[in-house]
Amino acid sequence: MSNQKQNDPLFQPFELGGVTLPNRVLMSPLTRSRASQPGDIPNALNAHYYEQRASAGLILSEATQISPQGKGYAFTPGIHSNEQIDGWKKVTNAVHTAGGRIHMQLWHVGRISHPDLQPNGDQPVAPSAIRAEGAKTFISADSGMVDVPEPRALETAEMAGIVEQYRQGARNAKAAGFDGVEVHAANGYLLDQFIKSGSNHRTDEYGGTLENRLRLPLMVIQAVIDVWGKDKVGVRVGPTGSFNGMYDNNPIETFSTFAKHLNDLGIGYLEVVEDSFQGNHANGRPEDVIDAIRAAYKGTYIANGAYTAEEARIRISEGRCDLVTFGRPFIANPDLPERFRQNAPLNEWDDSTFYGGDEHGYTDYPALEKLEANA
Ligand code: PHB
Repeated sequence: MSNQKQNDPLFQPFELGGVTLPNRVLMSPLTRSRASQPGDIPNALNAHYYEQRASAGLILSEATQISPQGKGYAFTPGIHSNEQIDGWKKVTNAVHTAGGRIHMQLWHVGRISHPDLQPNGDQPVAPSAIRAEGAKTFISADSGMVDVPEPRALETAEMAGIVEQYRQGARNAKAAGFDGVEVHAANGYLLDQFIKSGSNHRTDEYGGTLENRLRLPLMVIQAVIDVWGKDKVGVRVGPTGSFNGMYDNNPIETFSTFAKHLNDLGIGYLEVVEDSFQGNHANGRPEDVIDAIRAAYKGTYIANGAYTAEEARIRISEGRCDLVTFGRPFIANPDLPERFRQNAPLNEWDDSTFYGGDEHGYTDYPALEKLEANA
């Protein structure tokens, strides 16, 4: 038994970008919508939440808007003002003081937004003027969730500006003390909209052929690498995700080609949402797509999507992934790695407190010692 524990795949250290992660239990990027207003500024409560979770092998921050145009939901944090940089410093300091590591997830939502959230009430932007069917966004405490409108197709001349938004976001993340960054190219946000055939009907060099659809995402990733160095840059993709009205006509070809480019760029890791946002894998994982990505991308593979500890152990042992990100279990269990190590019971999450609100459902989930102390 003790030998089994010593050999637990979840607790074999892992070298990532020149840093040793003490375990393979990583925290997913998780939107919690609790930034201070006005200004979408991270605060002391946010710092405490991340600090509580510093035992993760690596924390990926909640998706963070790189620019005012990149914002898609009320109360989500940004990384484009000095106040936001100062707010994030509280978070990175707290995590580092607690012995943890944290990367920032860089986010532009593209068409998943609303004029009420955009500068000057502008229309949200996208590769093409195609509304995300069935997609909703949260515009204010009063109005709640609303359908997203039809976006405006970006002009070809605007692409350089999009790249600059990411470059500046990457610089600001560095100034805020993060250990690395993750480019969000999944779940139906801007870069995913460019990658997938259903949302990109452009006829210029940023659409049409697969190579054209990948052009902007690759330019963005190169810009972020220029700021951080390739080892410190991860990319998150969601090949088969349908959340936010997404569709691709050939996920194997699309994502194995993208993965090959990412391999050539030498990024630090690729995180794959295996299925869809909040998918439950009732029908299994998309093994054919995973195989194709694994064949094309030789670097560190991070698996995401409704994993249990036992499933994660098996996948790591089988060489299907190197690391695993856990989302909802980390919301409810600040000490998730220790619980996995001990095979201890998990707190259940309350999805009514996922988005917005105060410390309730955020920093008040108990850690194991406290449970024991109270028992
Ligand atoms: C959300 O806020 O609903 C959200 C944000 C980022 C994701 C997925 C969902 O990747």
